[in-house]
Amino acid sequence: MRKTTSLAFLFGAVLLLDFDKSYSLMRLSPIGIKATVKTNKLYVNASYALQQNGDPTNQTLDVEFYILRQIKSLKASFKYYLVAFNGSVQNALISRTVDVCSYMRRPSSDRLVNLVYSHVQRLGHIPSKCPIEPGQYYFRNLRTADLQFPIFLPESEFMLECVYYSSTTQNVYAEFRYYGKLTRFTYLP
Ligand SMILES: *[C@@H]1O[C@H](CO)[C@@H](O)[C@H](O)[C@H]1NC(C)=O
Ligand SMILES: *[C@@H]1O[C@H](CO)[C@@H](O)[C@H](O)[C@H]1NC(C)=O
Ligand SMILES: *[C@@H]1O[C@H](CO)[C@@H](O)[C@H](O)[C@H]1NC(C)=O
Repeated sequence: MRKTTSLAFLFGAVLLLDFDKSYSLMRLSPIGIKATVKTNKLYVNASYALQQNGDPTNQTLDVEFYILRQIKSLKASFKYYLVAFNGSVQNALISRTVDVCSYMRRPSSDRLVNLVYSHVQRLGHIPSKCPIEPGQYYFRNLRTADLQFPIFLPESEFMLECVYYSSTTQNVYAEFRYYGKLTRFTYLP
């Protein structure tokens, strides 16, 4: 009865590689430590808040961003790195590139992206087609414990990097880096 999907996607920030609404009680989930956001100020500004809600397993993420001028083509590259004890970032363990505009034209084309994307869509207002028009976008209360990482990943510190760029000009619009620790814990739905 286990329904597990994997992927890393997020408009505005971070995340995860695996999203699981199954009945499993033990989870391998990220506890966020910090995030950094760097944007191309001509196109986008962004801010985020990692809320603790009294318990690390109850952490939530809010992200708000403004698209300042029309974006016609968009790709996203996701890389998952392990971080060693001494803080050095190791080689990327997982990497994946998604053509965001193609995906939004045909959401059924990528089941894994769709699972994460539609979850985030319910939490706010995020772009749904290209060109992406200027405006305010956001999502709130993304519960990081809902993001289950693939079980084969080591329980260690990691950095998840998401870079959003134009597929025609290679112009980088935004770079998100999310630092956390993968932790096994009992999930309380
Ligand atoms: C982002 O841009 C919008 C629209 O110009 C502006 O209202 C907002 O204050 C900006 N936010 C930040 C954090 O710079
Ligand atoms: C988790 O956070 C919510 C608010 O988002 C709060 O109402 C709830 O009491 C918290 N639960 C625990 C176990 O801290
Ligand atoms: C940090 O640890 C990694 C892995 O153990 C090692 O490869 C690297 O050389 C270390 N870097 C420093 C600056 O000690």
